[in-house]
Amino acid sequence: MADTPSSVRHGATGAPRFKLGMRCLAGSVTVVALQGVGGTLLGVTATAVCSLSAEPPSLIACINRGSLLASGLFEDARFSVSILSEGQEDIAKAFGGQKGVAGRDRFVYGEWYRSEHDVPLLVGARASFECRVAGFLDYGTHRAAIGLVTDVHMSEDAERTLVFADGRFGTVG
Ligand SMILES: Cc1cc2nc3c(=O)[nH]c(=O)nc-3n(C[C@H](O)[C@H](O)[C@H](O)COP(=O)(O)O)c2cc1C
Repeated sequence: MADTPSSVRHGATGAPRFKLGMRCLAGSVTVVALQGVGGTLLGVTATAVCSLSAEPPSLIACINRGSLLASGLFEDARFSVSILSEGQEDIAKAFGGQKGVAGRDRFVYGEWYRSEHDVPLLVGARASFECRVAGFLDYGTHRAAIGLVTDVHMSEDAERTLVFADGRFGTVG
């Protein structure tokens, strides 16, 4: 095996270095949303979402435990994951805390409707998954929630997926 190439830079491991490395991991931009106890609408932009299993259909969403939304991701709670499409960058920014709005005020960005299970769903998302929390793991700063997918809504109009890498939005598709 060869020596480490000179182009590879080493550095001490820690949160800043970790985040720097993770900026290279391009991710689809989603909004994870739910109706909390008392009817409060909550949502956050998240790229740390991935497919877990096809049978049963399930996914994982990793949400900062400091976020109000994380406390709503308890066993059996229902939530949605909407995969954003081209043109929904403002929604990503609003739910990502970059427009100075919080809680239900974020839902003025984009057009939202409620499913029959009272889960908020975004109009024009490429796909929206309705889920029920089948389990979760609190680890470090985040809560990884396993979502058992109970319904999938697809938009026929949206053709390109919004992605995020190197601190910038782009599209693929
Ligand atoms: C592109 C992008 C991706 C993000 N991905 C995640 C993520 O995967 N998990 C997470 O907890 N926060 C993620 N965030 C940060 C949250 O969206 C942001 O901190 C949000 O304001 C949290 O909501 P809160 O203010 O209600 O706690 C992301 C933000 C952006 C802009």
